[in-house]
Amino acid sequence: MALTIFILQLAVCILAFPFYLLNFLGLWNRFCKKLFPYFLVRFSVMYNERMASKKQELFSNLQDFVGPSGKLSLLEVGCGTGANFKFYPPGSRVTCIDPNPNFEKFLIKSIAENRHLQFERFVVATGENMHQVADGSMDVVICTLVLCSVQNEEQILQEVLRVLRPGGAFYFMEHVAAEHSTWNYFWQQVLQPVWYLVFDGCNLTRESWKALERVSFSKLKLQHIRAPLSVEVVCPHIYGYAVK
Ligand SMILES: C[S@@+](CC[C@H](N)C(=O)[O-])C[C@H]1O[C@@H](n2cnc3c(N)ncnc32)[C@H](O)[C@@H]1O
Ligand SMILES: *[C@@H]1O[C@H](CO)[C@@H](O)[C@H](O)[C@H]1NC(C)=O
Repeated sequence: MALTIFILQLAVCILAFPFYLLNFLGLWNRFCKKLFPYFLVRFSVMYNERMASKKQELFSNLQDFVGPSGKLSLLEVGCGTGANFKFYPPGSRVTCIDPNPNFEKFLIKSIAENRHLQFERFVVATGENMHQVADGSMDVVICTLVLCSVQNEEQILQEVLRVLRPGGAFYFMEHVAAEHSTWNYFWQQVLQPVWYLVFDGCNLTRESWKALERVSFSKLKLQHIRAPLSVEVVCPHIYGYAVK
């Protein structure tokens, strides 16, 4: 099986040769960072349509975490184009973090379309190092489709714990590795190297629930589902929230 996967990986990589060439020349990364927001803005519309009921369900109890200030202090990590803004309760004070500065103009548009929110700032940083955000300053932190592309899941989750106030919550919705006995997992492994290159560092076989279980949240509410998306390899999903 391992050999079959390797041979198929090789075949897919050969088909993707132009990408590898650009990558080798150091051009792909720059190009990809610029282009990715345009792709994501389209993808997010489709994703929000298909996942509307799940996102509504997930975010329905955000209000429960409003802190003493009376307004929800919310940090979105890996915010991308701001596809989740419409699900946040009115008056939420939203801070955004993303390492890719090219998202700013898309964020500005989303902010303009979501006047029910109070936008605080956009910080260009990775989730692994959010030193610009003070300890215990957030009621909730949100990540959707982010843990697949971070360098170090546990480091991000430690940072999330640091910026959350005690009793605050971390909300997530992520695509993850399929069950190992399935054909889907087989294809996830075959496509992985090329997918990683083309989709800005997205890893198809992350078992993100394990990282969430390892980090010391006081409560973890997590569900595995098959998301109704048309690309099978990203259908296995987890979503839920964890309380500090
Ligand atoms: C697939 S997009 C999802 C965007 C958005 N959260 C959504 O649901 O539409 C992945 C996002 O994670 C960001 N990202 C990549 N590496 C990251 C890291 N180490 N820390 C925080 N965000 C990261 C990317 O720039 C991109 O905006
Ligand atoms: C993707 O995730 C899997 C499982 O965590 C890991 O074994 C693999 O090395 C990762 N690939 C990349 C390119 O980070």
